[in-house]
Amino acid sequence: MKVLIAGGAGYVGVPMAQRLWDAGHDVTVFDRLSFGKEPLAGLTGQERFTLIEGDIRDEAAVRDALDGQDAVCLLAAIVGEPACNRDPDEARDINLGGARTLLKAAQEVGVQRFVFASTCSNYGVADTSKAVDEQAPLNPISVYSETKVQAEEEILAAKSATFCPTVLRLSTAFGVSPRMRFDLLVSDFTLAAVKDKKVVIYGEQFWRPFIHVRDIAKGFETVLNADPADVSGEVFNLGGDGNNTRKIDLGESVVKHVDDATLEFVELNNDPRSYRVAFGKVKSRLGFEPDWSIDDGVKEVGNALLEQTWADPTDAKYRN
Ligand SMILES: NC(=O)c1ccc[n+]([C@@H]2O[C@H](COP(=O)([O-])OP(=O)(O)OC[C@H]3O[C@@H](n4cnc5c(N)ncnc54)[C@H](O)[C@@H]3O)[C@@H](O)[C@H]2O)c1
Repeated sequence: MKVLIAGGAGYVGVPMAQRLWDAGHDVTVFDRLSFGKEPLAGLTGQERFTLIEGDIRDEAAVRDALDGQDAVCLLAAIVGEPACNRDPDEARDINLGGARTLLKAAQEVGVQRFVFASTCSNYGVADTSKAVDEQAPLNPISVYSETKVQAEEEILAAKSATFCPTVLRLSTAFGVSPRMRFDLLVSDFTLAAVKDKKVVIYGEQFWRPFIHVRDIAKGFETVLNADPADVSGEVFNLGGDGNNTRKIDLGESVVKHVDDATLEFVELNNDPRSYRVAFGKVKSRLGFEPDWSIDDGVKEVGNALLEQTWADPTDAKYRN
């Protein structure tokens, strides 16, 4: 299969490009390279791999890149609340406007499959006494999730006999990627434990679901390999029931693996997102279950920090 990954030079995208390439697909990464092209060094120059530097809002460039592709995975975005809040207009322009441009071009040039990286944070504040499934009402409480919810609607509405769109609502990612992020909870806590010997937790009772970047890649591959009848016009939460955790449990898992690290708690009033998510649909319909537990991810990032994989993991380039 010929697959284009828009945003394939990012934290989630590089392991995805690698996995799809390893599986024998022709992989094209289309990315404006906000974080450089070094993270793709392992694939650059290989046969069946193409890197195109471009912006998903550039209609002509997008159309050229999509021509002849069988599938597109849309990851390109301004990612996360802080980054979107810095320039909400640009965030809307890229996350929604860019998604529209890619969607329209994909349909026009006859790309059959379209897999969109959305987010479980679309559920917003939820009743954590039960896990939310794909039918639960969405409650976007930030520019970031507003753009994701709207893009989801338009992408799903494009379903036709010849066009197969699928939305994956990703859990918060963790794990080591060639384009690393330390602003996400698991790696952020692990870095604080290793560097400061202290993890400060805001809102320790809040629930979040997590998933390893390589399991996200597996999830996209699973959708690409699925019968279109099973995935066209469908939304799947992507993660595993066992990887829903409260921040306090995540903190405890981190300090368990880092000698002499302690936890400190701060009451939180301004980030009310708390949600437990149900992952039964992706498991029963597509047989997807994650390979990585949160504990595995803490160990992986902790060991990589101790081995000094990054000269300065506190560098701003590792935070969106
Ligand atoms: N990381 C997570 O925890 C998480 C959770 C849920 C959903 N997601 C979704 O997964 C996707 C990837 O997230 P990530 O963590 O890899 O983020 P990232 O910031 O590391 O990567 C985003 C990539 O998109 C590219 N990009 C941004 N604007 C572009 C544009 N206009 N044209 C072309 N390329 C552009 C950037 O250069 C970058 O390589 C996003 O859509 C995000 O919303 C991520």
